[in-house]
Amino acid sequence: MCGIVGYIGNNFAKKVLINGLSNLEYRGYDSAGISLINNNSIHTLKTKGRVKDLIQLSNIDKIDGYCGIAHTRWATHGEPSDKNAHPHNNQNNTFSVVHNGIIENYNELKDFLISKNYKFISETDTEVIPNLIDYYYKEGNDFLHSVYNACKHFKGSYAICVISSFCPDKIIVARKSSPLVLGKGINENFIGSDIPALLEYAKYFYFIKDNEFAEVFKDNIIFYDKDLNKIEKNYKEISIDSSDITKNGYDDYMLKEIYEQPKSINNTLNNLNFETLDFTKEYLNNLKKIYIVACGTAMHAGLVARTLIENLCKINVEVDLASEFRYRNPIIDNHTLAIFISQSGETADTIAALELAKSYGAKTIAVTNVPESSITRIADKVLYTSAGPEIAVASTKAYTSQVALMSYFSIYLAELLDSNNNSLLEELKEDLKNIHDKISKILNSTNLQIKDIAKKIYNEKDIYYIGRGLDYCVALEGALKLKEISYIHAESYASGELKHGAIALIENGTTVVSIVTNPSLIEKSISNIQEVISRGAKTIIITNQHIDNDSFNYIIEIPKTNEYLSPILSVIPLQLLAYHVAKFKNLDVDKPRNLAKSVTVE
Ligand code: F6R
Repeated sequence: MCGIVGYIGNNFAKKVLINGLSNLEYRGYDSAGISLINNNSIHTLKTKGRVKDLIQLSNIDKIDGYCGIAHTRWATHGEPSDKNAHPHNNQNNTFSVVHNGIIENYNELKDFLISKNYKFISETDTEVIPNLIDYYYKEGNDFLHSVYNACKHFKGSYAICVISSFCPDKIIVARKSSPLVLGKGINENFIGSDIPALLEYAKYFYFIKDNEFAEVFKDNIIFYDKDLNKIEKNYKEISIDSSDITKNGYDDYMLKEIYEQPKSINNTLNNLNFETLDFTKEYLNNLKKIYIVACGTAMHAGLVARTLIENLCKINVEVDLASEFRYRNPIIDNHTLAIFISQSGETADTIAALELAKSYGAKTIAVTNVPESSITRIADKVLYTSAGPEIAVASTKAYTSQVALMSYFSIYLAELLDSNNNSLLEELKEDLKNIHDKISKILNSTNLQIKDIAKKIYNEKDIYYIGRGLDYCVALEGALKLKEISYIHAESYASGELKHGAIALIENGTTVVSIVTNPSLIEKSISNIQEVISRGAKTIIITNQHIDNDSFNYIIEIPKTNEYLSPILSVIPLQLLAYHVAKFKNLDVDKPRNLAKSVTVE
C-alpha cells in the first residue's frame, strides 16, 4: 500500500527521497510524488505511474532542498492520476502533506472547508489535511498546533508527514492506526512508513505510536503524546543483512524468497521460545476455544494449524478471515485464546480483529515476521517467524515459516497437555528438524519439470486446485498464488465437494491441479481426480504417495514426511508453478497489479 519517506538534514533531500521510494516499491502503488522546500517555498512534483516516471518528469532536475517528503500512492479515494497522487498541498502552497490511511469523514471536513472558501482539485480524502492545517494556521496557531488541531477532527487512520514553507527547518509527523518510523542519523533524520525504506541510511529507529506526534529537525526530534505533552523515546537498533533486501543474483524477489525457504524455516524453528507465553496445563484445560484470525495467505496457514491443534490437542479451533471476524460478533471471553497471524504485522483488519478479541478478554498472540510492527505492540504475546524480510508481494517463505511455527506450537501445546501421543510428537519434531533438507530436494528436483508444465498451461483462462483435508488447505494457497501473480482465474475446491457444483465447470482440456499426500485419503482423492478426468480435465498431481501414473498428465513427486507437515512441502511446487506461469506471461511477479504487500487500510 502507500509508502511515505521524509528527509531533513545537511544533504540534498531528493536523492534520499527517491531512493526511499524505490525501496518501498514492493508495497504496491500506482503513483508517486515528492515535495521539497527551497528558498522558503514548496516545490511539488507528482505523477501517475512508477518512481521511474517521477524521475523522468522534466522539472525534476530543477528542484532540490534539504527538507522534503515523498510518497507512493495505492489508490483508495479517486483513480490513479497525477492530480490524485500525493503530496497534496493547500491552495496557497504553504503546507504539503503525504498521507497513508483513510480519512473516513473527509466529505464532512471538505464541506466545512468549502464553506470557508477553500478549493479542492483532487478526488482524494487526503486533500482536506493540508487545507485544515492551513485553516488552523490562519486562526493564529503555530505549525505544530495547526497539525494537532486538524488531527483532532480525523476519523479513520493516518500516518502523515507535513512540511510548511513557514517553518522550513522541520517536518511534523503524526499517526493513528497506520505505521510510521523515524530513522536517526547524524545531522540528519529520516521518516518512513516502514524500515526497509530507510535501511540504507539509518540503523537506529524510533517508533511512533498511535496518536503521537513528532517535530523532526535535522539535529533533533521532539516527541509528543496525544495531548501534545513532550515525551521521551528511546531508539532501537535494527540490523538487517543487506542480502536480505536485495535480489542477491536472482531475477526476482519472489524466486529468491522461494529458494530461501530451507533457511527461513530453519531460522524460524531455531529461534522459537514458547516459554514466553507462560502457558500452564490448567490454563489450556480451561480453554473453550482457540480462534486463529488472519487474511489471505496467513489465513491459509491458520487453516493448517487448526487441523494440527485439533488433532494433537483436542482443543476446538475456529479459523476466520480478519475482515469477517471483526464484524460478526464472535463469541469471545477469557477462556478464549486468539491467535493473529500476519507477515507484515500491519494488516488493518487483522489488527482491528486483535483489538476486538482483546477487548472481550481473550488472551492474544500475534504471529508475525516483522519485529516492532504495529501488531507486536498490541498483542499480549508475540511469536516471530524469522523468515527475513519478504519483499515480493506474493507471500512464500512467510507462509511456510508460519506453518512451521504453528506446527511446532501445536506440538508444544500437546506436550503441555500430556496428550499421550509422545511417539507421534517425537516423530513430528524429528520431521520438522529435517524439513529444510526436503524443501531443498524439491527445489532442486522439480523446478525444471514445473517450468516445463508452466510453459504448456500459461495461456489457460481457468485452473482448478483440489485436495482433501490438509491438501485442501494447500490447494487454497496454490490457487491464491496463481491468481495473484498470473491473473489466471484459479479456484480451489475440497475434492469431495466437487460433485456438489463445481464439477459443472470442468470441460475438455480444463487444467486441474491435485494435491495428494494424505495416505488415509488416497483412494478417495484419486477417485475424485478420475471424475474430473472423465469430464476431459488435464491433471497435474503433487504427491508423496506411490500412485499409478497412467491416467495423469503430470506427476510432481515430493518427499514423504509426516502427513501433518505435508503442507510445508506440497506448497513449494505450487509456488514454483505460479512463478513460472507468470514469467511465461511476462508479468512483474514481484509487484502484481492492484496488490499491496501490506494492507494498511480496511
Ligand atoms: C498473498 C499475500 C496476502 C497476505 C495478506 C495478509 O500472497 O501475501 O494474501 O497474506 O494480505 O498479509 P499479512 O500476513 O501481512 O497480514
